[in-house]
Amino acid sequence: MESFNFYSPTEFVFGKGRENECGRYVKKYGGTRVLIHFGGGSAERSGLLGKVRRSLEESGVDFVELGGVQPNPRDSLVYKGIELCRSEGIDMILAVGGGSVIDSAKAIAAGVLYDGDFWDLYEGRPIERALPVGVVLTIAAAGSEGSGDSVITKEEGLLKRGTGSDALRPRFSVLDPELTQTLPAYQTACGATDIMAHVFERYFTNTREVEITDRLCEAVLMTMVKETPRVIADPDDYQARANIMWAGMVAHNNIVGVGREQDWNSHGIEHELSALYDCAHGAGLAVIMPAWMEFVYKHDVMRFCQMATRVFGVMMDFEDPEKTAVEGIRRFRLFLHSIGMPINFAELGAKEEDIPVLVEKFGIGDSRTGGFVHLSAKDITEIYNIAAKAEL
Ligand code: NZQ
Ligand code: ZN
Repeated sequence: MESFNFYSPTEFVFGKGRENECGRYVKKYGGTRVLIHFGGGSAERSGLLGKVRRSLEESGVDFVELGGVQPNPRDSLVYKGIELCRSEGIDMILAVGGGSVIDSAKAIAAGVLYDGDFWDLYEGRPIERALPVGVVLTIAAAGSEGSGDSVITKEEGLLKRGTGSDALRPRFSVLDPELTQTLPAYQTACGATDIMAHVFERYFTNTREVEITDRLCEAVLMTMVKETPRVIADPDDYQARANIMWAGMVAHNNIVGVGREQDWNSHGIEHELSALYDCAHGAGLAVIMPAWMEFVYKHDVMRFCQMATRVFGVMMDFEDPEKTAVEGIRRFRLFLHSIGMPINFAELGAKEEDIPVLVEKFGIGDSRTGGFVHLSAKDITEIYNIAAKAEL
């Protein structure tokens, strides 16, 4: 195991109806005049925004609103939010929604306290300060409610880029599993795929002697394999929703990833798909992640056997471990298909002829990327090719 710091300062407020307490937590973390940031309408329709407004009013907190965050959030709304926060004297941002809303809120929070163009912060300039962010989560997926990360798409050139800083970690996140019961099955499945991908990005590592994090990763993956079909079958299954919601946080606040080298190529490769086609991030991952596995498994066949046997219950073939590894990947793809995820370019709405554009936008040139297996632009082209043609 490698040395590490683990810093996860967010207060998680979990359970039914806890959104009614958000005013109290805004006050606790110093908010007096808040920007409520939200998406395209689901939070209004479900009555959640009404509850949030009421809770803020009851706590005597002023607020201003900015809705309209799109999935794969755009820079244009971030600029608008920064202006609004400055002109209105906002001192905290309350994100009411999913990963896209939270990431947009984080970008605004950092941008308000930065003198230059906020996009600099998504091109490598470190983020040192940000307004405090609070969260009321409505979808278990990106894990942004517990992470210091934010991913934004620049409309010009459709560049999707991420940044990370402890300054972006939410001060508090309200997690009410009941709020996720209004999600369409497809969004639920996209979220589940993203949660599993966050674990796999950490699970496939070259670091040895990481039993504790291996076992934690497997626990999250097995939970997702068990609970996802339950919520697809019954969207109102509170207990399954609750397990998934916490799994989404655990998968990405890095408690399952500390002390080990991580990969993250599948995320980078996927981000070009969601940037170009505006597909859901989780759906893109369903197409990319098994293709990435097929391309890299020979690098460490036994680690893939470990996944196959422990997570997907494949019988170990000691004569031919490769068979076990390949069967594990096949089971993962079958699982994704069974919950309604696309498995190839055609099902995702992506085009094979765009592969050179995707690779160019990924933009690694002659260098290599990825912590588990270092990939070149040629390797990434091959992964897109495998993903394009994948079958069950
Ligand atoms: O906009 P509304 O109307 O709210 O609809 C949303 C949106 O269309 C809908 N939705 C959310 N909660 C709902 C609901 N519909 C009904 N009932 C509810 N309770 O779901 C759609 C998707 O929402 P979005 O926020 O885009 O989903 P997600 O949480 O998957 O976020 C995806 C974004 O997060 C980024 C992705 O790249 C993508 O841009 N990521 C962020 C990460 C981070 N900050 O740590 C890590 C991830 O790997 C990921 O890259
Ligand atoms: Zn993700």
